[in-house]
Amino acid sequence: MKIDIVTLFPDFFASPLATSMMARAIAQGLLTVETHDPRDCATDKHRTVDDAPYGGGGGMVLKPEPVYQLWQERGLAASRCIYLTADGQPLNQALAVELALEERLVLLCGHYKGVDERIRTELIDREISIGDYVLTGGEPAALVLIDAVARLIPNVLGNFSSALDDSFQEAVLDCPWYTRPVEFRGQRVPDALLSGDHERIEHWRRRQALRRTFARRPDLLQQIELDEEEQQLIATWREQGLEEAP
Ligand code: ADE
Repeated sequence: MKIDIVTLFPDFFASPLATSMMARAIAQGLLTVETHDPRDCATDKHRTVDDAPYGGGGGMVLKPEPVYQLWQERGLAASRCIYLTADGQPLNQALAVELALEERLVLLCGHYKGVDERIRTELIDREISIGDYVLTGGEPAALVLIDAVARLIPNVLGNFSSALDDSFQEAVLDCPWYTRPVEFRGQRVPDALLSGDHERIEHWRRRQALRRTFARRPDLLQQIELDEEEQQLIATWREQGLEEAP
């Protein structure tokens, strides 16, 4: 997968991309990330990239000319462009899976008061938010998105074989709050975990995952296919009013 990041702060990405899973994915050639700075295409001596918004309004926005030039010079029109913005579509696991199926993505990080309306209408395909809070720029959001997507690329994580093969359900269950290892310090380790029986361990893990999901995010259970036994189990938990996470 190739990800192009359009940013006024390329240095922001250096350390995270050189660390851990992302560094490995890049070293293995499974992920390629390139940054593009619109300032490289500014034409004045101050390398200006902001401007008053087209059609008026307060604040400064990322101006279109250097961005258009960048798009041409770096061939960015070939990919779908995602603009990171607080009022975009919320990023969740389903969206991460969808994006992981793309071969190439351009991530546009905004600053100032956002981007010129012409950039919005002509270059941007999709707007994504990482949460209901306002960041100073799109860079941290782009990093979060890259992390969530990169780990779904086949072979990036040893145990997540392919975003194409895996069902949405498995992707949902792959969320960290489902699979967070349970601390057993001072407590008896469940027999299932010590059994060495792969199927039994998986069964136990899924039970734990469902139990935590039931307690923390019951809304997500509607998106997961449950077998009869699991449905029965959840009905029992509901009857017992089990709200506390195990
Ligand atoms: N830019 C500013 N705030 C943001 C957010 N919450 N998500 C994505 N991009 C942003």
